[in-house]
Amino acid sequence: MSATEGAAFIELENVYVERAGVRVLDNVSLTLRAGDRLAVVGANGAGKTTLLRTITGLQKATSGTVRAFGRVRRTQEDFREVRIRAAYLFQDADDQLFCPTVLEDVAFGPLNMGLNEQAALEKANATLAFLGMEHLGERITRRLSGGEKRLVCLAGVLAMEPDVLLLDEPTNSLDAKHVEKLMTVLSSLDKSMIIVSHDRPILDRLATRAVRMKDCRLEPAVLHRHPHVHEHLHVHVGEDHA
Ligand SMILES: Nc1ncnc2c1ncn2[C@@H]1O[C@H](COP(=O)(O)OP(=O)(O)O)[C@@H](O)[C@H]1O
Ligand SMILES: [Mg+2]
Repeated sequence: MSATEGAAFIELENVYVERAGVRVLDNVSLTLRAGDRLAVVGANGAGKTTLLRTITGLQKATSGTVRAFGRVRRTQEDFREVRIRAAYLFQDADDQLFCPTVLEDVAFGPLNMGLNEQAALEKANATLAFLGMEHLGERITRRLSGGEKRLVCLAGVLAMEPDVLLLDEPTNSLDAKHVEKLMTVLSSLDKSMIIVSHDRPILDRLATRAVRMKDCRLEPAVLHRHPHVHEHLHVHVGEDHA
């Protein structure tokens, strides 16, 4: 990777989005640099998912500029590369999984990137092994548990070796065991991330800075370091901390 430290991977400039004629993003600007792990908090319906969809071109900006990996992105062809380098873990695993078996699903990304079938399957197997899930390879995706589905989706995302992970409420509706597994993996990865979450302990562990979506706009939220016996991060998102 040639990006210098601190290079911007993703930059939104004065982005507006309307869905069904209603404004959902209002003059949103955001920069994600190499090494950033940006928490995005905010109420349901605030526009967090729309933000991730706009970064990946699944949602078209009404106006403003989406720049990713050094280039302005406008067309679907532009966003094809963005979706490989900034891989999106959907809020709902059932929206992401669509192949019959786990191995096929994880191999889909590498295949889509142009690897031949054998290389894509090897990549999928290696990624599942990295996550300690090689035993799931032949399983039928729709019969997995919710936690297994989320981890298989993560495998599919990681198999593309992205620079950036876009994580939409990654721990939502997972049991404690799968949350811990997911967190162990995510915190071990040397990747930039945007983490949409309401899960305060998750953000404490993962995020390096935070923003909040409110009324379709992004505003800063403060990450505090509290000097306890062990130091950890708190995200303050209330009005009184803005
Ligand atoms: N498919 C859609 N068509 C029209 N409006 C939508 C659609 N999906 C979401 N919205 C609206 O966009 C706004 C932001 O939604 P979303 O980005 O999903 O918020 P969040 O992820 O913060 O809960 C909400 O007002 C929601 O009703
Ligand atoms: Mg959402």
